[in-house]
Amino acid sequence: MLGSGFFALDPSDEIENADLGHDFETALQMAEQLAADLFGAKHSLFLVNGTTGGLHYLLMPVKGSVLIPRFSHQAVYSAMMLSQGRAVYLPPAYDVDWQIPLQPTVEQMEQEMRRGGVEALVLTHPTYYGTVADLDRVISCGRKHGTLVFVDEAHGGHFIFSDQLPQPALQCGADAVVQSTHKTLGSFTQTSMLHANNEYWFAKAVQAQRVLQTTSPSLVFFAVLDEVRRILAEQGRRLVGQALELAWECRRGLAKIEGVELLPQALQGDPGKVVFSLRDLGLTGIEVERTLRADYNIQVELSDYYSVLALVTLGDTPAGIERLTAAVKDLAGRRRHLGSRPLQRPKLDMPHLPPAVLTLREAFFAEKQFVSLAEAEGRISGGFLTPYPPGVPVIAPGEQFTPEIIEHLRWCIDINWTVRGLTAAQKVAVLEDNGRFCRTRKQGELHYA
Ligand SMILES: Cc1ncc(COP(=O)(O)O)c(C=O)c1O
Repeated sequence: MLGSGFFALDPSDEIENADLGHDFETALQMAEQLAADLFGAKHSLFLVNGTTGGLHYLLMPVKGSVLIPRFSHQAVYSAMMLSQGRAVYLPPAYDVDWQIPLQPTVEQMEQEMRRGGVEALVLTHPTYYGTVADLDRVISCGRKHGTLVFVDEAHGGHFIFSDQLPQPALQCGADAVVQSTHKTLGSFTQTSMLHANNEYWFAKAVQAQRVLQTTSPSLVFFAVLDEVRRILAEQGRRLVGQALELAWECRRGLAKIEGVELLPQALQGDPGKVVFSLRDLGLTGIEVERTLRADYNIQVELSDYYSVLALVTLGDTPAGIERLTAAVKDLAGRRRHLGSRPLQRPKLDMPHLPPAVLTLREAFFAEKQFVSLAEAEGRISGGFLTPYPPGVPVIAPGEQFTPEIIEHLRWCIDINWTVRGLTAAQKVAVLEDNGRFCRTRKQGELHYA
């Protein structure tokens, strides 16, 4: 079915290039250096295990505390499991109207940094919804306290190619960033790049890569990354500019449709992420995504209770944008015809972060058992419990179930909010060895057993 050409595309890295007189390693390093030059870094790595891999390489060598926003991607959490470090979370805040996670403030960072002992800070720039922090100030705060600043720029690889976009993190002084080239810049799925200006830490990341990466990386992936780099070096600004023009056209088209609301500008750092809602027509974002796929053959990037995210990249065309706006117009018309009522807007009350008793790594690999929510109070969680969307864990491995967390989880279940990590029988994973790690309840108080 695939044809012989498909397999011819997959050479081995054993091949030496007689014409160029150098081996595969040298060729790869030359390609990576060209990428570093383009993205304003001293060094770059081509990654075959996505941004997940790059975050793992940066964080595996860490030994101290790492400050991370609670809404961070699971790749940041798994990186912490590989390291000997301890995650310290910046509690999440949400936009009340759209219920999307907000970036931590400089004041929050400053407060945590002042406690001391923070070895690294991992920012997400931008969030999945395109929201950005005041990066200059946040990174200066990290610098002032002598903290390493790493940035999960999975959704920000294209920032360097337009002045309409937020500043790239490396240009704001980050030590290293990881970008999913496959998300916004058109390379193959799985391919990302790590860019670093901190030579000392880059050398550590390379060591970690040697441990964690396959010894047989796909040359196809490297070749595609190199070709994407070449195209971007020659035409990046033009291509990203065109994509942004299309995104603005898409916004203008959607804004004209009665009953369609767009995410306010203040929350939207990246205009290429078109976030819109049909909540006034009684549709959840999840229903809009499903209908666009089933009735109009259009796949959007993401949906949640209120909104849908249509991602406009340099792979999009005016015809595609027209198709999306026409579909949304048709869908909104159908809803209005039915006389639908606006969606209920429940107040989102997130619980406080629970106390952390063990590190992610200690708890994740410990022996576990499954208990009901009623039995979980005072026990140490063996897994994540994450209402999805927006995908921010209310409890992580090593943290203790408090009455507030349990009440919140019960509420999520009551309103049919999907909670990842909860079994079908609504049980949760807790550490088996309760006596060693856990607090038990005595006379209404929490004490160590
Ligand atoms: C914010 C963020 N960080 C990291 C990742 C992981 O990236 P990758 O899929 O390239 O491993 C994702 C993927 O969706 C993401 O959204």
